[in-house]
Amino acid sequence: MSALMDKLWAGKDSHPTKGAQYTDSRVAGKACYARDMTTISLFPTLIYAARLPAKGLGKFNAQLLRECRQLRADDTAGQRWSKKNYPGGFTSYNSACRMHTLSPTFAALERRVNRHVRRYAESLQLDLMDRELTMTDCWVNIMPKGVVHGLHLHPLSTISGTYYVQTPKGCSAIKFEDPRLDRFMAAPPRHADCDAENKPWYHVPAEAGKLVLFESWLRHEVAPNPVATERVSISFNYSWF
Ligand SMILES: [Fe+2]
Repeated sequence: MSALMDKLWAGKDSHPTKGAQYTDSRVAGKACYARDMTTISLFPTLIYAARLPAKGLGKFNAQLLRECRQLRADDTAGQRWSKKNYPGGFTSYNSACRMHTLSPTFAALERRVNRHVRRYAESLQLDLMDRELTMTDCWVNIMPKGVVHGLHLHPLSTISGTYYVQTPKGCSAIKFEDPRLDRFMAAPPRHADCDAENKPWYHVPAEAGKLVLFESWLRHEVAPNPVATERVSISFNYSWF
């Protein structure tokens, strides 16, 4: 019996290894091994979402948006890379990918995100062993109508996330995939209205002023932007090593 199961059974008046028989009061007189059954939830996938404080947020986002667009105009390496790898859109993922070191506005975003990353790391119960989780990468994504952000994860990173700068009404959400999907094999589908933690995919709406954090190994994608206005976000990685 594992320590975990011992803990789960602690305080109960019967124990699967100690009692020879358990009698369920609902089945008078019959031996029953289901008494005190419990179901435990293990190996969770935690996704963190938060809004930045509303004070001054409109001005802050407007400045970020100006800089994102300016970067698109100036970053010729990013334009070339996007043409090949992000058709119709712009990303500085492979060019200006450390924007927090280049722009005071992006550095301010880093400071605002840091406290959320710390809180998320606490909820993951990570033992960071006195080493800091630090922002290593920070880049811009601009998705005009029809542009898609294919399924991917963030290699060489611990925690990743996105901050939303401009999210026109009706724009695509970020879609996360159950990391065990390839192991389900013959498993039946889930009920359409099943709880969030049992869904094979989960959408988190994109909303300007909101940030979403996830562990970097978690695959995600953004469906084509269906609306005329550009969807603008800033993505980032935090590393521990
Ligand atoms: Fe991503």
